[in-house]
Amino acid sequence: MRLDVFFTHNEVKQGDTMGRLVAIVDVLRASTTVATALGNGAKTVIPVEGADGVIARAREFERSAVLLTGEQKMLPIPGFDLGNSPQSFTEEAVEGKTILITTTNGTRALLGVQGARDIVIASYVNFTAVLTLMKVAASSNTDIAIICAGEEGSFTLEDAACAGRYVRAIPKRAESVVVNDAALASVLIEKRYGDNIAKVFKESTHGKALEGAGFGDDLAAAAQVDSYPVVPIYQDRQITKLGPERAR
Ligand code: MLT
Repeated sequence: MRLDVFFTHNEVKQGDTMGRLVAIVDVLRASTTVATALGNGAKTVIPVEGADGVIARAREFERSAVLLTGEQKMLPIPGFDLGNSPQSFTEEAVEGKTILITTTNGTRALLGVQGARDIVIASYVNFTAVLTLMKVAASSNTDIAIICAGEEGSFTLEDAACAGRYVRAIPKRAESVVVNDAALASVLIEKRYGDNIAKVFKESTHGKALEGAGFGDDLAAAAQVDSYPVVPIYQDRQITKLGPERAR
């Protein structure tokens, strides 16, 4: 089987996702926000391209049933209900709601995936839950692609470190798993920081930018490993959580 990491979604070619389990990693902050929303009881999360897209899509719902959410240049979008701060997606705010979300990189990475067997949203806050799905895939020789959202087409340290944590944890029978160079490099990054995720964020460009913009609490929330043990699956243009009502 193949286990590949892509440091940006721009690198992904059509065949790279075909028939695979694909994990989208946007630790700061879209993946973390999606896992938090579903963990706190949101009915579904619908990723949409652009603020206008969210507004148009919202017309299909009762206003009280949806939340318009997302960011532009990290900031909440004027007139929307929530931004992209994971901890604002509380149980009180999101329970039973359909979340329409647009974000700069995470949404784009997700909407670009083609032909995957399954698409899952991965982060630190739902690390082990998603790892379980990856282990099942690995045990049945299903190829895995971990796609880092990156930042405006560039590499991000935090997504690479999280990808490396997955690569390290997926059991590999040496003779049967082929990994790409980015997967090997992601492991080196993960080993460099280990469990000190706060340090990854402190040293990363986007982590520093979020801190500078007053979103330091988001970094702390995003570093909480397994705080929202959900498996968010993207199917039929929406993300719902795997569970008794949605088995795989
Ligand atoms: C994104 O999708 O680009 C990010 O989640 C940006 C952010 O930090 O809000």
